[in-house]
Amino acid sequence: MAGTAPIGIFDSGYGGLTIFEKIREALPDRDFLYLGDNARAPYGPRSFEVVLEFARQATEHLFARGCPLVIFACNTASAKALRSIQRNDLPRSSDPTRRVLGVIRPTVEAADALSRTKHVGVVGTEGTIASRSYELEMRKLFPEIRVVSEACPMWVPLVENGETEAPAAEYFVKRHLDALFSRDGKIDTLILGCTHYPVLLPLIRKFLPAGTRAFPQGACVAESLKDYLARHPEMARRISRGGNAAFLTTESAERFSRAAEIFLRARERVRAERIELK
Ligand code: DGL
Repeated sequence: MAGTAPIGIFDSGYGGLTIFEKIREALPDRDFLYLGDNARAPYGPRSFEVVLEFARQATEHLFARGCPLVIFACNTASAKALRSIQRNDLPRSSDPTRRVLGVIRPTVEAADALSRTKHVGVVGTEGTIASRSYELEMRKLFPEIRVVSEACPMWVPLVENGETEAPAAEYFVKRHLDALFSRDGKIDTLILGCTHYPVLLPLIRKFLPAGTRAFPQGACVAESLKDYLARHPEMARRISRGGNAAFLTTESAERFSRAAEIFLRARERVRAERIELK
């Protein structure tokens, strides 16, 4: 269709595929262009300045390929770069009608709807937790909710190395959940504030206190995007239809294809194109 383009989906690497999968289920007739900055992942331990610079480059790349709307599937980029790009970069860009959306706000809204005790836990990368983005968004939207957070720096490497069934995975999952719940025994809803954590869900469920629900974010991000497009028909008209997905990576295309199978649970063969960001 002339004048239309895919929705851009950006992540530091493969993990955003867990979000992409849900978005595609919610919007099956739309086209998508996924960009994983695998060569520079993980973003979790990186500084604000560096994550902002990388996220800017990725956004510019997706805009240059025509995407009018870019979703930051990455929590760390949503936490550290989204607001600055929305406030400072977009208004000054050559097309200020383009949009960038993240994962934190829809996740916070979903957590509020799920929690009865109004005590919510968040697990994420060091970067996401240090930014306090979840607490700040929660305080803005739902000030009555108490948020307790825990950085889990070992969880991403365990997933990326395919070690989710190893004893080390049990050890690190239990250790961080115990630490979180020992600080607040009333938590009934746990936000998995990182793209990789849905892969650890069976293990996380094993160590969750009874009556507590772990809460992956793909479905609520997807629903929120669907709702956004319904409320913004001018943007929906700019998104191409066809049900196609293409994949870009800053690392080897072959490596991306292999690892993508972990995250898409081997349901499809992914062909990627290698690009450079600068
Ligand atoms: N995508 C990142 C996130 O959701 C996890 C991987 C990384 O640290 O780059 O925070």
